[in-house]
Amino acid sequence: MKTAIYPGSFDPVTAGHLDIIRRAAGLCDRLIVVVMHNQAKKPAFSPEERCALLRRAAEGLPNVEVQMFSGLLADYAGQQNADTIIKGLRAVSDFEYEFQMALANRKLNPNLDTVFLMTSAEHMYLSSSIVKDIAAHGGDITGLVPDSVKNEILLRIRKDGNTWQH
Ligand code: COA
Repeated sequence: MKTAIYPGSFDPVTAGHLDIIRRAAGLCDRLIVVVMHNQAKKPAFSPEERCALLRRAAEGLPNVEVQMFSGLLADYAGQQNADTIIKGLRAVSDFEYEFQMALANRKLNPNLDTVFLMTSAEHMYLSSSIVKDIAAHGGDITGLVPDSVKNEILLRIRKDGNTWQH
Protein backbone atom coordinates (compact mmCIF):
# COMPACT_ATOMS: atom_id res chain seq x y z
CA MET A 1 0.00 0.00 0.00
CA LYS A 2 1.39 3.37 -1.04
CA THR A 3 1.17 5.89 1.78
CA ALA A 4 2.00 9.54 1.14
CA ILE A 5 2.14 12.44 3.56
CA TYR A 6 1.14 16.02 2.85
CA PRO A 7 2.60 18.15 5.68
CA GLY A 8 2.07 21.81 6.43
CA SER A 9 1.02 24.42 8.94
CA PHE A 10 -2.45 24.71 7.32
CA ASP A 11 -3.14 27.87 9.34
CA PRO A 12 -5.82 27.73 7.93
CA VAL A 13 -6.44 25.33 5.02
CA THR A 14 -6.88 27.18 1.71
CA ALA A 15 -8.44 26.30 -1.64
CA GLY A 16 -4.87 25.77 -2.89
CA HIS A 17 -4.23 23.16 -0.21
CA LEU A 18 -7.49 21.36 -1.03
CA ASP A 19 -6.54 21.28 -4.70
CA ILE A 20 -3.23 19.58 -3.80
CA ILE A 21 -5.02 17.17 -1.42
CA ARG A 22 -7.48 16.08 -4.13
CA ARG A 23 -4.78 15.54 -6.73
CA ALA A 24 -2.38 13.80 -4.32
CA ALA A 25 -5.18 11.48 -3.13
CA GLY A 26 -5.39 10.19 -6.70
CA LEU A 27 -1.70 9.28 -6.70
CA CYS A 28 -1.55 7.03 -3.63
CA ASP A 29 -3.60 4.48 -1.68
CA ARG A 30 -3.54 6.48 1.55
CA LEU A 31 -2.87 10.18 1.99
CA ILE A 32 -2.14 11.54 5.45
CA VAL A 33 -2.51 15.30 5.72
CA VAL A 34 -0.50 16.19 8.79
CA VAL A 35 -0.67 19.46 10.70
CA MET A 36 2.84 20.27 11.88
CA HIS A 37 4.74 23.09 13.53
CA ASN A 38 6.88 25.51 11.54
CA GLN A 39 9.38 27.03 14.00
CA ALA A 40 9.33 30.31 12.10
CA LYS A 41 5.58 30.91 12.56
CA LYS A 42 3.19 31.84 15.32
CA PRO A 43 -0.08 30.24 14.26
CA ALA A 44 -3.52 31.86 14.57
CA PHE A 45 -5.42 28.55 14.85
CA SER A 46 -4.63 25.77 17.36
CA PRO A 47 -3.49 22.41 15.91
CA GLU A 48 -6.90 20.94 16.88
CA GLU A 49 -8.75 23.74 15.05
CA ARG A 50 -6.56 23.32 11.96
CA CYS A 51 -7.24 19.55 11.93
CA ALA A 52 -11.00 20.09 12.30
CA LEU A 53 -11.05 22.55 9.37
CA LEU A 54 -8.99 20.16 7.23
CA ARG A 55 -11.26 17.21 8.07
CA ARG A 56 -14.35 19.13 7.02
CA ALA A 57 -12.64 20.38 3.84
CA ALA A 58 -11.52 16.84 2.89
CA GLU A 59 -14.88 15.17 3.60
CA GLY A 60 -15.81 12.82 0.76
CA LEU A 61 -12.19 11.86 -0.03
CA PRO A 62 -12.15 8.29 1.34
CA ASN A 63 -8.39 7.67 1.29
CA VAL A 64 -7.51 10.95 3.05
CA GLU A 65 -6.96 11.19 6.80
CA VAL A 66 -5.93 14.19 8.88
CA GLN A 67 -3.54 13.98 11.82
CA MET A 68 -1.24 16.25 13.82
CA PHE A 69 2.36 15.71 14.88
CA SER A 70 4.83 17.84 16.77
CA GLY A 71 8.19 16.22 15.96
CA LEU A 72 10.30 15.78 12.84
CA LEU A 73 8.54 15.05 9.57
CA ALA A 74 11.14 12.39 8.67
CA ASP A 75 10.39 10.49 11.92
CA TYR A 76 6.66 10.76 11.38
CA ALA A 77 6.98 9.34 7.87
CA GLY A 78 8.94 6.38 9.30
CA GLN A 79 6.24 5.74 11.92
CA GLN A 80 3.54 5.74 9.24
CA ASN A 81 5.50 3.54 6.78
CA ALA A 82 5.25 6.36 4.25
CA ASP A 83 7.90 6.79 1.57
CA THR A 84 6.54 9.90 -0.13
CA ILE A 85 6.13 13.49 0.98
CA ILE A 86 3.81 15.64 -1.13
CA LYS A 87 4.42 19.39 -1.38
CA GLY A 88 2.81 22.05 -3.52
CA LEU A 89 5.04 24.40 -5.50
CA ARG A 90 3.54 27.78 -6.26
CA ALA A 91 6.39 29.71 -7.84
CA VAL A 92 10.11 29.59 -8.45
CA SER A 93 10.52 31.48 -5.17
CA ASP A 94 9.25 28.40 -3.28
CA PHE A 95 11.84 26.17 -4.89
CA GLU A 96 15.02 26.89 -2.93
CA TYR A 97 13.41 26.43 0.48
CA GLU A 98 11.52 23.32 -0.64
CA PHE A 99 14.67 21.86 -2.20
CA GLN A 100 16.52 22.34 1.10
CA MET A 101 13.73 20.68 3.10
CA ALA A 102 13.47 17.77 0.65
CA LEU A 103 17.22 17.10 0.92
CA ALA A 104 17.22 17.45 4.72
CA ASN A 105 14.28 15.06 5.05
CA ARG A 106 15.99 12.54 2.78
CA LYS A 107 19.18 12.80 4.83
CA LEU A 108 17.18 12.11 8.01
CA ASN A 109 15.20 9.27 6.40
CA PRO A 110 16.87 7.86 3.23
CA ASN A 111 13.66 6.03 2.23
CA LEU A 112 11.82 9.30 1.85
CA ASP A 113 11.23 11.06 -1.47
CA THR A 114 9.49 14.39 -1.93
CA VAL A 115 7.09 14.77 -4.85
CA PHE A 116 6.15 18.30 -5.89
CA LEU A 117 2.79 19.07 -7.43
CA MET A 118 2.50 22.32 -9.35
CA THR A 119 -0.17 24.47 -7.80
CA SER A 120 -3.08 25.24 -10.14
CA ALA A 121 -2.70 28.63 -11.82
CA GLU A 122 -5.63 30.19 -9.95
CA HIS A 123 -3.93 29.49 -6.61
CA MET A 124 -0.44 30.75 -7.49
CA TYR A 125 -0.72 33.84 -5.29
CA LEU A 126 -2.55 32.20 -2.41
CA SER A 127 -1.19 31.56 1.08
CA SER A 128 -2.69 31.08 4.53
CA SER A 129 -1.30 34.51 5.55
CA ILE A 130 -3.09 36.21 2.67
CA VAL A 131 -6.38 34.56 3.68
CA LYS A 132 -5.95 35.69 7.31
CA ASP A 133 -5.05 39.22 6.27
CA ILE A 134 -8.05 39.59 3.95
CA ALA A 135 -10.43 38.12 6.56
CA ALA A 136 -9.05 40.31 9.35
CA HIS A 137 -9.68 43.42 7.27
CA GLY A 138 -13.27 42.46 6.46
CA GLY A 139 -12.57 41.27 2.91
CA ASP A 140 -14.27 38.47 1.01
CA ILE A 141 -12.44 35.12 1.12
CA THR A 142 -14.90 33.30 -1.16
CA GLY A 143 -12.96 31.00 -3.47
CA LEU A 144 -9.76 31.39 -1.44
CA VAL A 145 -10.74 28.74 1.12
CA PRO A 146 -12.95 25.63 0.79
CA ASP A 147 -16.65 26.68 0.91
CA SER A 148 -17.38 24.24 3.74
CA VAL A 149 -15.03 26.07 6.16
CA LYS A 150 -15.32 29.67 4.94
CA ASN A 151 -17.73 30.90 7.60
CA GLU A 152 -15.86 29.24 10.45
CA ILE A 153 -12.57 30.83 9.36
CA LEU A 154 -14.19 34.26 8.96
CA LEU A 155 -15.90 34.15 12.37
CA ARG A 156 -12.76 33.01 14.13
CA ILE A 157 -10.44 35.57 12.51
CA ARG A 158 -12.83 38.50 12.96
CA LYS A 159 -13.47 37.56 16.59
CA ASP A 160 -9.81 37.30 17.57
CA GLY A 161 -8.35 39.94 15.24
CA ASN A 162 -4.84 40.00 13.93
CA THR A 163 -3.05 38.10 16.72
CA TRP A 164 -0.56 36.08 14.69
CA GLN A 165 2.78 37.11 13.31
CA HIS A 166 5.63 35.73 11.29
N1 COA B 1 -1.83 26.65 -2.10
C1 COA B 1 -1.93 27.71 -1.29
N2 COA B 1 -0.99 28.01 -0.35
C2 COA B 1 0.05 27.18 -0.25
C3 COA B 1 0.22 26.06 -1.05
C4 COA B 1 -0.78 25.80 -2.01
N3 COA B 1 -0.71 24.76 -2.82
N4 COA B 1 1.38 25.45 -0.73
C5 COA B 1 1.91 26.18 0.26
N5 COA B 1 1.11 27.21 0.56
C6 COA B 1 1.34 28.26 1.53
C7 COA B 1 1.11 27.81 2.94
O1 COA B 1 -0.24 28.05 3.33
C8 COA B 1 2.07 28.67 3.70
O2 COA B 1 1.47 29.97 3.86
P1 COA B 1 1.90 30.92 5.09
O3 COA B 1 3.39 31.16 4.94
O4 COA B 1 1.09 32.12 4.86
O5 COA B 1 1.58 30.17 6.35
C9 COA B 1 3.25 28.87 2.74
O6 COA B 1 2.71 28.60 1.47
C10 COA B 1 4.41 27.97 3.00
O7 COA B 1 3.96 26.64 2.96
P2 COA B 1 4.95 25.46 3.36
O8 COA B 1 6.25 25.64 2.68
O9 COA B 1 4.23 24.17 3.14
O10 COA B 1 5.23 25.75 4.88
P3 COA B 1 4.36 25.39 6.09
O11 COA B 1 4.68 26.34 7.17
O12 COA B 1 2.90 25.26 5.74
O13 COA B 1 4.88 23.91 6.49
C11 COA B 1 6.36 22.33 7.55
C12 COA B 1 6.24 23.67 6.80
C13 COA B 1 5.42 22.29 8.76
C14 COA B 1 6.02 21.18 6.61
C15 COA B 1 7.84 22.19 7.99
O14 COA B 1 8.16 23.31 8.81
C16 COA B 1 8.08 20.91 8.75
O15 COA B 1 8.28 19.87 8.14
N6 COA B 1 8.05 20.99 10.11
C17 COA B 1 8.23 19.81 10.95
C18 COA B 1 9.62 19.82 11.63
C19 COA B 1 10.66 19.27 10.68
O16 COA B 1 10.65 18.12 10.27
N7 COA B 1 11.62 20.16 10.35
C20 COA B 1 12.70 19.82 9.45
C21 COA B 1 12.25 20.00 8.02
S1 COA B 1 13.61 19.70 6.93
